[in-house]
Amino acid sequence: MNLSIIGTGYVGLVTGACFAEVGHRVVCVDNDAAKVRTLQAGGIPIYEPGLEELVARNRDAGRLTFTTHTAEGVEQSDVVFIAVPTPPLPDGSVDLSYLEKVAREIAAAMTRYKIVVDKSTVPVKTGDKVAETIKRYGKAKVDFDVVSNPEFLREGFAVEDLMRPDRIVIGVRSPRPVAALKQIYAPFDAPIIVTDINSAELIKHASNSFLALKISYVNALSVVCEATGANIQEVANGMGMDARIGRRFLQASLGFGGSCFPKDLSAFIKIAEQVGYDFRLLKEVQRINADQMERFVKKITDTLWVLKDKTIGVLGLAFKQNTDDIRMSPALELCHRLQKEGAALRVHDPKAMEKARAVLKDVTFVADMNAVAEGCDALVIATEWEEFKQLDLERVRRSLTHPILFDGRNLFDLAEMERLGFIYKSIGR
Ligand code: UGA
Repeated sequence: MNLSIIGTGYVGLVTGACFAEVGHRVVCVDNDAAKVRTLQAGGIPIYEPGLEELVARNRDAGRLTFTTHTAEGVEQSDVVFIAVPTPPLPDGSVDLSYLEKVAREIAAAMTRYKIVVDKSTVPVKTGDKVAETIKRYGKAKVDFDVVSNPEFLREGFAVEDLMRPDRIVIGVRSPRPVAALKQIYAPFDAPIIVTDINSAELIKHASNSFLALKISYVNALSVVCEATGANIQEVANGMGMDARIGRRFLQASLGFGGSCFPKDLSAFIKIAEQVGYDFRLLKEVQRINADQMERFVKKITDTLWVLKDKTIGVLGLAFKQNTDDIRMSPALELCHRLQKEGAALRVHDPKAMEKARAVLKDVTFVADMNAVAEGCDALVIATEWEEFKQLDLERVRRSLTHPILFDGRNLFDLAEMERLGFIYKSIGR
């Protein structure tokens, strides 16, 4: 089918590339001319495993094109996907101004029936607003349908998640657009559920909030584990074998971050407030997450005492592994906290150093992960990169002035760290 995607960020670009991969013709639109030029010239603006090859293959095959003009995308497609940012406002609610602007642009460009699909994460009832806007600003007064089709991909695994999704949610106001949406998703071999549009919008916020809740639950448990001598990983393994609970997203950490969970939690709390419900459970999820960072910083200061004039090595800057995304990254927050206490930092991240340079000042960026510990008073693991598990621990121990390692991601085995002679402090173990 002929598709366009307005907004070429993490969701828009990966979705566009995957749609093209299964044979659709896709026009990706973005108002950032530099980004579009990069994509047209064969470059890629973000790091996402497998994406570069996917984009190149489909661009070369002529199935994936890029433009800065919304009208061009709308003209060349039957179904228009919106994947623009919906960032948080200072009060926790969602800034829908990009979405509203795009809805007006689509309306102005429509000359025949279109299906307009929202993929951005939006508050429930936004679909109605989009429909009203298109109706109001449509010049040709042509027919259209608005659909909600939330995206559930994880950064760092985006291509994998998109090619093999757990489910496709299609929220509609009438049955008319369902067949086209099913046709678009037919090659993906995933269960499709069709709901009303409000339910589809809610499924997204409800899912992300639940996943965040799961992480805060395990992080709260980690506190009890530390106080009792239990091991959070064994507790999580035991819990996770119950199919009703599941082991995924029970990884204790220094807290969750990124551009989705913190923002979506605040938004969902606000949405509930606006309909008269005080979602205290989710407020507690936020509080536990904030406490987790406090507790980790305290663990470091309790051990090292004064941080002024000390040097700390930090492994990991991205908000999670397999990405160069540093938005709301717990690792970066930790760096800022340690700097505030007076520590000098030597840092490394496999992919996020370039982006981190813009926001992390007065630190030493180290290209080799095994060299970070040199001359440091302690080393901290802040992001769960798989490759950190391959750290040359003998060398690290010899490089540190004192063999102290704080692990905010529980990457190493306790007995092994003891054998190697580390003072090893992790989460909930
Ligand atoms: C999240 C959801 O997982 C996706 O399903 C959703 O589509 C996406 O938000 C979105 O709304 O766009 P993402 O933010 O890319 O995806 O990353 P996650 O893998 O969910 O990780 C989020 C944070 O939680 C990271 O900081 C990660 O390190 C942390 N985390 C995750 C834990 O601390 N423990 C865990 O067990 C899992």
